[in-house]
Amino acid sequence: MRQELFNLKRNQYAASIIGTGSYVPDTIISNSYLEKIVDTSDKWIVSRTGIRERRKVSYEIATSDIATEAAVRALNDANLSPMDLDMVIVATVTPDMVFPSTACLVQKNLGAKNAAAFDIEAACSGFIYCLSIAEQFIKSGSAENILVIGAEILTKITDYKDRNTCVLFGDGAGAAVVSKSEGSQILSTYLGSDGDGCDLLYLPAGGSRNPASVETINKSMHYIKMEGSEVFKFAVKIMEAATEKALGLCNLNKEKIDYLIPHQANIRIIENAMKRLNLTKDKVFVNVDKYGNMSSASIAVALDETKRMKRLSKGDNVVLVAFGGGLTWASAVIKWA
Ligand code: ACO
Repeated sequence: MRQELFNLKRNQYAASIIGTGSYVPDTIISNSYLEKIVDTSDKWIVSRTGIRERRKVSYEIATSDIATEAAVRALNDANLSPMDLDMVIVATVTPDMVFPSTACLVQKNLGAKNAAAFDIEAACSGFIYCLSIAEQFIKSGSAENILVIGAEILTKITDYKDRNTCVLFGDGAGAAVVSKSEGSQILSTYLGSDGDGCDLLYLPAGGSRNPASVETINKSMHYIKMEGSEVFKFAVKIMEAATEKALGLCNLNKEKIDYLIPHQANIRIIENAMKRLNLTKDKVFVNVDKYGNMSSASIAVALDETKRMKRLSKGDNVVLVAFGGGLTWASAVIKWA
């Protein structure tokens, strides 16, 4: 009985995406530029990652700036004003500063006077974590319109002397408005983590473990460190498992996927997921070639580009799936409107 009441309350309102927006800076870092600064080649990068170029902000730009750009576009798409927002949630591993949150800075930039604001840190899974949190607030009736953003300036935490990582990352931001109003309904979300993998992908200094010092700077401890092949093995397994989990939560199976928007980290990880899920190329979104890995912004930008390219039809089941540092993973199923 208690469970029935819980489900009734939980599903009192549907949570839907009613607008999306994204922003990527104009400056391109090409593979041929990277060939000049580290021991790598366009051939290696394209064959091992699928990445041809990535974007980079200029030095004076911070994450809240690009997050705000994406947010304004999403609000315009949703036909809402900043005053309509109850909450702003930003996923990022590259906040402007440790505090206040980047979400508070975006709230200020927008003039979203009625909104609570906070950040989520779940690395590349962060945008779907935000979607899931927004979904819960809308379904429970506690909020009507929530702005969720994935925004990263990874070029400022990338070591351009380390060929293992510097070819992978880029900058960008994407946003979505999740609402009680009718739109593309979120049918399910699924989140997971495994802190045992915390040392596979991390940034060692700048927090309470290793506060910034001359030593941390000299040892390049303010840059991303990654065990690439271990992350790769984890990624190929979790993409399939997390997809199936989110589908199961709304009583669907992999045969019912109309379109997959996977985290854009490496074309080989995407192709592996495509194979495991029996999907053809036309059913899977790819922009890793243009932007590289933008961590939490990756799915957010991909969702907006998918929408603008008009690749989907009303009623399509769209799956979002991501994995990242933590380790974390997350997935969602959306009924396209
Ligand atoms: N150019 C040339 N050679 C390179 C480069 C490069 N840019 N990078 C690595 N190599 C070399 C290595 O040194 C190694 O050489 P060795 O055999 O002489 O030691 C060789 O290439 C193979 O290295 P691997 O690491 O085994 O290469 P792999 O095929 O695994 O590809 C890659 C590496 C692209 C990093 C891959 O493992 C990967 O994509 N992993 C997943 C990364 C990821 O998805 N991260 C996501 C999360 S990001 C976040 O959460 C912020």
